[in-house]
Amino acid sequence: RPRALAESIPEDPSPLLALASRHVVSSRQFDRETLTQLFRLSAQYESTPALMHLPLQGKILISAFYEPSTRTRLSFESAWHRLGGDIMSITDPKSTGMAKGESIQDIAEMFNNYGDVIVLRNNEDRSVYDMLDALRIPIVNAGNGIDEHPTQAMADVYTIFKWRPELLDPDLPRDKRIRVGIIGVPNRMRTVRSLLLLLARFPTAIEEVVIFTDQDSPFDEGQAEELNQAGLSVRVSKRLEPELPDLDVVYINAIAWVGDSYEQMGAELKLSTHSPLKKDSIILHPLARGEELDTDLDPTLHNWYFAQARGAVFVRMALLTCMVRRVSEVMDT
Ligand code: CP
Repeated sequence: RPRALAESIPEDPSPLLALASRHVVSSRQFDRETLTQLFRLSAQYESTPALMHLPLQGKILISAFYEPSTRTRLSFESAWHRLGGDIMSITDPKSTGMAKGESIQDIAEMFNNYGDVIVLRNNEDRSVYDMLDALRIPIVNAGNGIDEHPTQAMADVYTIFKWRPELLDPDLPRDKRIRVGIIGVPNRMRTVRSLLLLLARFPTAIEEVVIFTDQDSPFDEGQAEELNQAGLSVRVSKRLEPELPDLDVVYINAIAWVGDSYEQMGAELKLSTHSPLKKDSIILHPLARGEELDTDLDPTLHNWYFAQARGAVFVRMALLTCMVRRVSEVMDT
């Protein structure tokens, strides 16, 4: 599957050159061409490990996770290791100057001296923005509060295109477009906010996005309008089950995160082998999962959530490579 995706995209390294030494904070920074070329490089990495010429040898990643993570931290670190680099990791803020009240700007100043790239997760929305002014090395936002998680969204969309590479065709016939269901809250979940922004770069692939939530105001001011202006058709529904047979991609989140809603809507927003899923549909989940995604779906062909977590390594390899090295040094030209 990654080979088919790589071969379906004509190589054009030029959009990737602009990623050199650039901060990655929001999905909003990425246009369709850049994402497409990133997915090509990701798929090359995934299908042909021999391509890796250890381009990050001698470079140091500061992996700063001030909030728990399994996949994001380990997949970033796996990506960096596979590219030949070294890592310094923070997994507990109590073991750093943060516990003594050190400012995030002063921490950023120190990071400049010790590494070449920072990957930051923090439970405050503003954390990554507060660091920017003090930084002379690039930073990747690995989740800032309820704001954004752009590299998760890249892994999500990469998975969709691996599943169906033809969706990248800007002239895709309308009847081949897919319908995407997202179980989650766009203004309270960073995964959903970032994913919607990236899906909006590919409106020719998507007939409609349906947001499933019981929230009466699931969008921030201007959020839905921004998506609609980009050509993405988005609507909200409270009833998942009647719509499931029409959805090609079902993106489910850990519903427990939205508090009271889980108690009220938990039964309605769960997926299992008893759910009326469309025959060829795929399920995505950023994980970690809770009760909303039954393990009985794991051995089925609907399970693309494990492929999604695996693909994140290759997407992050592609992005980190382009941030640190000239892409001509690593692409298969
Ligand atoms: N998808 C995701 O962000 O998972 P972690 O919280 O384990 O990093």
